[in-house]
Amino acid sequence: MREKEKYANDIWHSGFERYLTKQPWRTVKKRDAATVLVAFFLILFLGALVFVGWFDASVFRGISRKPTLTPTGMPSEFPLRCATGNLKQTCPENYPTKHNPTTNPDRPSNLTSTCPSYFQWIHDDLRHWKETGITQDMIERARKTAHFRLVIVNGKAYVEKYRQSIQTRDMFTLWGILQLLRLYPGRLPDLELMFDCDDRPVIPSKHFRGPNAAPPPLFRYCSDWQSLDIVFPDWSFWGWAETNIRPWKNLLKEIKEGNSRTKWKDRTPYAYWRGNPWVSPIRQDLLKCNVSEQNDWNTRLYLQDWVKQSKEGYRESNLQDQCTHRYKIYIEGWAWSVSEKYILACDSVTLYVRPRYHDFFIRGMVPLQHYWPIRDNSKCTSLKFAVEWGNNHTKEAQAIGEAASNFIHEDMKIDYVYDYIFHLLNEYAKLLKFKPKIPPGADELCPETMACPTNGIHRKFMEESMVLSPSDAIPCTLPPHDPSVLGSLRDRKDKSTKQVESWENEYWEKLSKKQ
Ligand SMILES: *[C@@H]1O[C@H](CO)[C@@H](O)[C@H](O)[C@H]1NC(C)=O
Ligand SMILES: *[C@@H]1O[C@H](CO)[C@@H](O)[C@H](O)[C@H]1NC(C)=O
Ligand SMILES: *[C@@H]1O[C@H](CO)[C@@H](O)[C@H](O)[C@H]1NC(C)=O
Repeated sequence: MREKEKYANDIWHSGFERYLTKQPWRTVKKRDAATVLVAFFLILFLGALVFVGWFDASVFRGISRKPTLTPTGMPSEFPLRCATGNLKQTCPENYPTKHNPTTNPDRPSNLTSTCPSYFQWIHDDLRHWKETGITQDMIERARKTAHFRLVIVNGKAYVEKYRQSIQTRDMFTLWGILQLLRLYPGRLPDLELMFDCDDRPVIPSKHFRGPNAAPPPLFRYCSDWQSLDIVFPDWSFWGWAETNIRPWKNLLKEIKEGNSRTKWKDRTPYAYWRGNPWVSPIRQDLLKCNVSEQNDWNTRLYLQDWVKQSKEGYRESNLQDQCTHRYKIYIEGWAWSVSEKYILACDSVTLYVRPRYHDFFIRGMVPLQHYWPIRDNSKCTSLKFAVEWGNNHTKEAQAIGEAASNFIHEDMKIDYVYDYIFHLLNEYAKLLKFKPKIPPGADELCPETMACPTNGIHRKFMEESMVLSPSDAIPCTLPPHDPSVLGSLRDRKDKSTKQVESWENEYWEKLSKKQ
């Protein structure tokens, strides 16, 4: 199963990892001596230029990341500081260790806001340990499938690595956690956790019933209703190097720009999907709904060939150029698919094929408000009806597309992704029954030790997604656990899905009577 999982994975990798450089951060590449020499002389030359004053300082402002100083004399930004030559890379000591946004007179925003409602699921994901707490022994039992153990002590991160993950998932996940530590320095309590970077959940709830069940707490990117895995935002928020998908913050801006290029009404009035069908039978099944001589299910489906795309510079896979249809289909791959958030961000109506898995944010979205539910057992008829309904009710359809877009661009902006991780880890840490200790022999992990040995697109994405200074604000306020809110959300979802299904039935019955 493992091997299959590795290669049959999510849509976006079709055996891609085999020929792309694997895990460059682990094999420190020896720099070419010539490059170093050239760089050295270049620096000397530029230094001389600046010294002689040939360069106006304003020319540099745009390109250099020279730390600017606050009135108190502290640097306000802390860019990557890589050791030069053969010096061993260490972690800089000058980054603030306390988060105190109110003491900075330039940055007055100590206002607190309530977190978006999907944060409530944090309580739900951790409820299994609410009574018992989490013991060291429970964590050890989660090690079986984990890729790494993360320990945070005094605001610093330590990692024990167990297995190679797919592509660089583990690396970018850890990168994200390091950025959180920089955003809110000193705010997270000490903690210890196990993380599994594979796709499908592995802690079946049926094995852990009753008061003494003691399930192992294991973090991963998705779960389902039969599993206890704790859901954590996936690596792609900090960039997905292997598919050329840049970090979330800037990608969202690009998608927004792409959205403004074509108004909803002027978009192609069909349902669009582009992906790799070979990762799951339900995707192959979806291809049967493509437009053909015999049938028009109102769809336009395309294959994504990542190998070809990578050779051609990803010309056809730019996400910001894919907001050209009124409707976009979301369908799971081997498990949840990273493509979900990009599809929902487009202002198009997302036609959401009934899923099995959930990631951290989708539980806050509701059919008919944020997306249109599609049956998994009769996709073609369901899709045809959805598109026809939308083209008959353009105002309503447009509103659904906009609501999803707003959710993604506002409630899911990178600040809230960090806040989600903050609260998840903070609530998790409260459950620990022991004091986490630095694993013997573990080195501190910091942006410098991770990013400096890498190069190419991995390095580029890390620099792009690096947090340069502590946040101006404190994290949003986590709403308290209220099972009735989550219960009524579930009811609402069921009700609107059933509503759509009954409309569909009516429509198809009427048509069959006509014939
Ligand atoms: C924010 O800071 C100002 C000035 O220090 C203070 O008066 C105000 O009460 C603070 N607001 C909050 C919500 O903490
Ligand atoms: C679906 O149909 C369109 C239009 O005929 C075609 O361009 C496309 O390649 C088809 N997709 C697949 C996956 O066969
Ligand atoms: C769309 O409108 C046409 C024309 O009024 C009607 O025949 C058809 O049933 C409608 N379809 C849906 C799904 O509302």
